[in-house]
Amino acid sequence: MLATLPVSQLSSAPLIRIRPRTALLASSDPSFRQRLNTTLTGLCWEVREAETGAQAWAAAESSVPEAVIIDAWLPDLDMAEFMHDFRSTFPTVDVIDAEGTATCKGPRSPHRQEIYYALRTSQDTDTAAWNAAPDLGDGAAQKDTKKPPAPVRLATNVSIIEVVEPSAETLSGPVLVLPAIPAKREQPVVERLPGLIGNASSMMDVSRRIRLVAPRSTPVLIEGPTGSGKELVAEGLHRLSTRSRKPLIAINCAAIPEALLEAELFGHTRGAFTGAVHGRMGRIEAADGGTLFLDEIGEMPLALQSKLLRFVECGELQRVGDNETLKVDVRIIAATHRQLARSTQEGTFRSDLYYRLAVFLIRTPSLIDHMEDLPLLVGHFLEKMGRTEPVKRVDPSAMAMLKQHDWPGNVRELEHVLERAAILAGDDTTITAGEIDFGMSVN
Ligand SMILES: Nc1ncnc2c1ncn2[C@@H]1O[C@H](COP(=O)(O)OP(=O)(O)OP(=O)(O)O)[C@@H](O)[C@H]1O
Ligand SMILES: [Mg+2]
Repeated sequence: MLATLPVSQLSSAPLIRIRPRTALLASSDPSFRQRLNTTLTGLCWEVREAETGAQAWAAAESSVPEAVIIDAWLPDLDMAEFMHDFRSTFPTVDVIDAEGTATCKGPRSPHRQEIYYALRTSQDTDTAAWNAAPDLGDGAAQKDTKKPPAPVRLATNVSIIEVVEPSAETLSGPVLVLPAIPAKREQPVVERLPGLIGNASSMMDVSRRIRLVAPRSTPVLIEGPTGSGKELVAEGLHRLSTRSRKPLIAINCAAIPEALLEAELFGHTRGAFTGAVHGRMGRIEAADGGTLFLDEIGEMPLALQSKLLRFVECGELQRVGDNETLKVDVRIIAATHRQLARSTQEGTFRSDLYYRLAVFLIRTPSLIDHMEDLPLLVGHFLEKMGRTEPVKRVDPSAMAMLKQHDWPGNVRELEHVLERAAILAGDDTTITAGEIDFGMSVN
């Protein structure tokens, strides 16, 4: 702790000269950068900022810092890949994950504690912002003050977004939906999630819902057509939750044969069925403490839905072939390309299970419904591809073609069309209409 000197002694106190140390701060969140920058500058660090992984790399090349603080949410960044490449290129630099979720082996700055202190301070500010956010006014959605969300960052300088009202269909059961915001009311509206590209009101609503519900253990149902970002939303929910240090375990209910799905979900004992040579833990158990992502839940066979319902209701399960009951704590996120409320009416999905899964609903829109985001998405994917080769750009003729397409495969299709176009353009950094080929889109 620093001792405080009386003013009279200040002039005779020895002058301590502290050489500034340099930190590179890479995050796409300007308010987070600003808070951390302020604290670190106060601690005598010289801070440089980068908004993207590419910028961080260029800044490190121009002058090697002592430490890099990196936010895993950088739009153009695969954290594991970045860590590996960065460390082999800059072996002396201490790399610190801003959210503490990645394991960062390698050199340690002798001043690492100061960075941890600054990160802690900025997270405290995040929590304060969270606590200042309004309640939803619904008992099921009250703020859980015991568990403040670590990485949630609220912005106060963003204009009010429009909220898409849910259909009457989903309102027929006890589904928690956020009310539309009266246009004139000032709201501490959240920023869009880094990595989830789209400034259209429907996409901003997706980001807003993710940030609001992520810190709770409320089950979430994500509905949207193929390739519209449902998995991205599930990852965002987990990452922004207090469970982010525990696993996010996904299971695609459509991809696993019905006979195996039960054992895959609940686990099994040795000899539980032919071929079960060893006992095995199921995915639900593997997600203990974390998040279970039930992808394509609409395809789950009815018999298994009943078994899942029992688990959702009491948090207890039995491995196939076992009498022992296990208590497991998971947060459930489910996704489907169907309108699950309709499936309940058609009798292919249990309504009691639906109401327990769809406590909070997030809808990812079709790309055709937010075409104003097309240029942004195009830029995002071209930048992403530009990590391994020079960044390409689409010329106006190519952009016009992209704007005319109806995108049945949504954002995934766009990503594939651009990847194909980039290959067809060869060494040319400009993609023209000639390279845009929709015919082979893999949806
Ligand atoms: N808004 C978005 N911003 C950036 N990338 C996106 C967005 N939406 C989707 N993507 C990208 O498109 C691809 C498909 O997204 P994702 O797998 O999340 O879709 P999905 O809705 O789960 O599709 P499916 O129903 O076929 O499983 C991924 O590479 C994802 O990163
Ligand atoms: Mg998916």
